[in-house]
Amino acid sequence: MSSNTLGKAFTVTCFGESHGRCVGVVIDGCPSGLRIDESDIQMEVDRRGPRGETLVSGRTEEDKVEILSGIYRGYTTGAPVTALVWNRDIMSRDYEGLADKPRPGHADYPANVKFGGFSDLRGGGRWSGRMTVTLVMAGAVAKKLLNLHKIEVLAYTSKVGNVEASKVSVDEIRVNTYKNPVRTADLKIVEKMVEEILNAKSRGDSVGSIVDFIALNVPVGVGEPFFDPLDGDLAKGLFTIPGVKGVEFGLGFKSSTVYGSENNDEYKIEAGRIVTSTNNSGGILGGMSNGMPITGRVAFKPPPSIARKQKTIDLKRFENVEITVGGRHDPCIAPKAVPVVESVISIVLVDHMLRSGIIKRIIKS
Ligand SMILES: Cc1cc2nc3c(=O)[nH]c(=O)nc-3n(C[C@H](O)[C@H](O)[C@H](O)COP(=O)(O)O)c2cc1C
Repeated sequence: MSSNTLGKAFTVTCFGESHGRCVGVVIDGCPSGLRIDESDIQMEVDRRGPRGETLVSGRTEEDKVEILSGIYRGYTTGAPVTALVWNRDIMSRDYEGLADKPRPGHADYPANVKFGGFSDLRGGGRWSGRMTVTLVMAGAVAKKLLNLHKIEVLAYTSKVGNVEASKVSVDEIRVNTYKNPVRTADLKIVEKMVEEILNAKSRGDSVGSIVDFIALNVPVGVGEPFFDPLDGDLAKGLFTIPGVKGVEFGLGFKSSTVYGSENNDEYKIEAGRIVTSTNNSGGILGGMSNGMPITGRVAFKPPPSIARKQKTIDLKRFENVEITVGGRHDPCIAPKAVPVVESVISIVLVDHMLRSGIIKRIIKS
């Protein structure tokens, strides 16, 4: 059975394709009484693209959000919220023949086999980065719900290729991230990151990247052991973002290289609150939030569509061939993915907080 829905209580179903008429989302389970309008969702969608920059694909969509249902007189009604953006800047002829000559690194080949050649692969179809607009629209609603609980979800580009941001404060993430085209929080590294992306692009190549995230003020006990642990569901949500190849929490893979005495986060009482001195667990223990910031990182591979000649196969003729991928492509994913990471984390947190009754079904403001 196919799966186009994320979540159990706050469910997010996405529809559309990159070069179809639109991409959109149906959010079911959203509490009634949440004050929201198109501009709240638009603001988040606008953060997605550093538009007109040479760092991202040349596709320029207006992406004007339209809400079709679920909001009446400025408040959610409790019925499904449907929102979409139309696709207008489409150049589909660049993608002709992809089903027969699959792009290395993209979803063309397995999609072709799985769906018997019927998939719409124009512009990457369902597997396009464009589908992440739908996550950002749902994330905008989720963020509004989290705001009521003073929960803040932040993300920033921490690495592009081998260029790495220095350690940054939460304030630096808040203030700096959306002020530069690579969406990093360390302003000293912006130029180097830009250079790394443009260098790859000028060689007809693309480059990998990492996005760090932090969720603040998540109460203790969010997450449903055994099979719906918070870290597991966050990772599942993050892996729906195209191009994600790794997710880690807290010390992550490095925790396998240290001793328990170094890894354990010792408890203490500080200003009347139970906290830990370190946060190697990334704010999650036993699949439940422990009240510390939820921290981690998401690794993105280099976008597969590169301008260089590559070897592939012709599926119809069953022979080896070469292709040069056309179309307009992002040379690096992180700059566009930062708000997507924030959105997915927000969606999963809301889903779990509804399930555990922390977010009520009626919002009384
Ligand atoms: C925001 C965003 C933008 C992306 N832009 C491109 C792109 O321009 N060209 C491309 O080939 N892949 C791009 N990707 C990645 C592909 O969609 C992805 O690699 C592909 O669907 C295969 O899925 P997988 O890498 O998760 O296995 C982008 C991904 C995201 C999240």
